[in-house]
Amino acid sequence: MAQSPVKVTVTGAAGQIGYALLFRIASGQLLGADVPVKLSLLEIPQAVKAAEGTAMELDDCAFPLLSGIEVTADPNVAFDGTNVALLVGARPRTAGMERGDLLQANGGIFGPQGKAINDHAADDIRVLVVGNPANTNSLIAQQHAPDVPAERFTAMTRLDHNRALSQLAAKLQVPVTEIKKMTIWGNHSATQYPDLFHAEVGGKIAAELVDEAWLRDTFIPTVAKRGAAIIEARGASSAASAANAAIDHVFDWVNGTEWTSAAIPSDGSYGVPEGIISSFPVASRNGKWEIIQGLEINAFSRERIDASARELEEERAAVRELGLI
Ligand code: NAD
Ligand code: LMR
Repeated sequence: MAQSPVKVTVTGAAGQIGYALLFRIASGQLLGADVPVKLSLLEIPQAVKAAEGTAMELDDCAFPLLSGIEVTADPNVAFDGTNVALLVGARPRTAGMERGDLLQANGGIFGPQGKAINDHAADDIRVLVVGNPANTNSLIAQQHAPDVPAERFTAMTRLDHNRALSQLAAKLQVPVTEIKKMTIWGNHSATQYPDLFHAEVGGKIAAELVDEAWLRDTFIPTVAKRGAAIIEARGASSAASAANAAIDHVFDWVNGTEWTSAAIPSDGSYGVPEGIISSFPVASRNGKWEIIQGLEINAFSRERIDASARELEEERAAVRELGLI
């Protein structure tokens, strides 16, 4: 019997990540080459027309797996029966905006979307938040969806993970496929910690193949500040690479992987405070993320994991203070 289509909702569908993402979803790259999909495009009213234009282009591709498209400005419609929600649309920081203003503006988006997911999504709903500040936006949405298992809310650090693979591969002059067990810890921000003490290249620990000064002064800041470097170079934030990472995250979540990085609700593992949505080394088994356990954390890593977790705790305290969770 033919499989019934999986409903995928993309918010911010008329934005630049949306444009890089939707065609790949419709072609089967998000879930698998044999899984039909139904797309729901959520936008703010002023951008619905642009999203309709993208929907026309999706039609014009005649994707065999695409069984339908809806475009709406109503979250209750967009998330009705949704199986996978990609929360991309967010309020960007503009000149003169304080962090509290940014969190407040995003609370106004992710709170109602979390509630709409709670009230209307399918029982197997999986949520990936891409819109920044992604980890805390995911927490806000999660806190408005008490009936959805908390672990279904995740945030994207896969782009950071892929950036780390690529930087290390270039340094060691190896294909990215030779690198195993890469890990990003913490927040999708400049405090994130890309960890080479567990990454392996050809069976050797990556940190032992590079000098400490490169690891500390070049590798970590290059990965952590890559988003800002892209903005500086393109005049706009990363889009196709962000869409690519979202595809990787959901594909692995659904289809399984032995090791990658994803921001998921902390259960207190590795001393990361429970409840914050923080990046960990994860496997996906039977459709669920699991934190990889038993890694030894040296003093160098400890300091950096703690610093990023502290930043996430501060963001959580700020959104609590603002009454957003
Ligand atoms: P963009 O400005 O091109 O598009 C954002 C879209 O979201 C716009 O079309 C806007 O109308 C829409 N939108 C705003 N509020 C909405 C709402 N309440 N409901 C539905 N849609 C809404 O931005 P972009 O380049 O596509 O980036 C989107 C977000 O992703 C930004 O927050 C960016 O910082 C973030 N980002 C995250 C990562 C990551 O690795 N986690 C990487 C790159 C970008
Ligand atoms: C990225 O990592 O490319 C983005 O999160 C940067 C940004 O601030 O949008």
